[in-house]
Amino acid sequence: MARIELNAIRKSFDTTDVLKGVDLAIEDGEFVSLVGPSGCGKSTLLRIIAGLEQQSTGEVRIGGRPVDGVRPSQRNLAMVFQSYALYPHLSVYDNIAVPLRMKRLSTLERMPVLGRLLPNRHRVEREIRGEVERVTDQLELSAFLKRKPGQLSGGQRQRVAVGRAIVRQPVAFLFDEPLSNLDAKLRVHMRAEIAQLHRRLGTTFVYVTHDQAEAMTMSGRIAVMIGGELVQVGRPAEVYDDPRDIRVAEFVGSPKINILPGHLRADGQVEMLGYPLGLAGSGLARPCRAGVRPERIELGAGAFCGAVVHVENMGAEAFVHLGVDGLATPVLARIGDVRQLPPLGSSARFGFAPDAVRLFDAAGKRIETRLTAAPQRAREVAVV
Ligand SMILES: Nc1ncnc2c1ncn2[C@@H]1O[C@H](COP(=O)(O)OP(=O)(O)O)[C@@H](O)[C@H]1O
Ligand SMILES: [Mg+2]
Repeated sequence: MARIELNAIRKSFDTTDVLKGVDLAIEDGEFVSLVGPSGCGKSTLLRIIAGLEQQSTGEVRIGGRPVDGVRPSQRNLAMVFQSYALYPHLSVYDNIAVPLRMKRLSTLERMPVLGRLLPNRHRVEREIRGEVERVTDQLELSAFLKRKPGQLSGGQRQRVAVGRAIVRQPVAFLFDEPLSNLDAKLRVHMRAEIAQLHRRLGTTFVYVTHDQAEAMTMSGRIAVMIGGELVQVGRPAEVYDDPRDIRVAEFVGSPKINILPGHLRADGQVEMLGYPLGLAGSGLARPCRAGVRPERIELGAGAFCGAVVHVENMGAEAFVHLGVDGLATPVLARIGDVRQLPPLGSSARFGFAPDAVRLFDAAGKRIETRLTAAPQRAREVAVV
């Protein structure tokens, strides 16, 4: 078990700065996801933790010790990749036993024929059998021990890769997009499996993904990375509800948050398309952007009016796209009760409570706001 500490990690490839000073402390036993768009530097950071890549400057500590100069194999971390990296010619059993054999048998003892004549080999193989079986029981792979990876489903292969990582009893697990080769349904199933595995093992998990839903549903904390920087770190619900940067607001949540053009007036009031939102911000008069999640848009009444340009009905919920005069992109509203859907082509009034708004300045930084009227009064006033 281990706490992992990253201090001011920078990494450049030639002249490109890929990591621009990353600070993060991952507590012992914690499940932290590094999440961000492709190319933002997630894998590079994970490889630096593993020792597969050397940072340009900064320090990595594992269990309190600086690990610069400690070889990957000596860091006692287990890495699980998207591609599984299983040996195709070895059985499930042997794939999982490999890391133990590498650690406990000499080169001579590992020789197929000669090795069998050496007494130590039998003793170690017996121990290994016990440990592999314990792991394969845990992962429900016992029925497949003799199969080759080619004879397994994607999910089973993934479990073998996890088994091979667990059997070494590492101080922490590093996952790099381990589910991205699986189909959508299996991915959702494996999310639950990995979260349960973490609860059972209680070991530190660092999980890299570009899929915000994966990060949101599995981890204790998520670290949102954009362009080589950690923009926000926090519990999933906190990052979703209280994004400190417009890029975080837009990256987390699916479908995406609505971003509406607004104006912060000299008297502090925030208005949108000429209507006050019942909200005040501080600072100079300036343009701003108001983020409102689709589930906070209320259809049927409100200050604004939109044309229903598209409806996505998923059965249990629906999304209504509202074209609004003066806005470049439609406003998205989530409808919980699909029996209440407005017809395509109709026009619909809509609004939102002032406390649904997260306000950002032109640079994308959060502007703190306070309510200037009770939400229900603001809505009544807003209805025209
Ligand atoms: N060995 C390398 N040499 C040069 N550029 C690299 C190397 N590895 C990664 N990069 C670049 O660094 C950036 C971040 O890559 P990566 O960490 O793989 O991103 P992510 O995992 O978030 O998709 C990308 O622009 C990528 O092209
Ligand atoms: Mg990657």
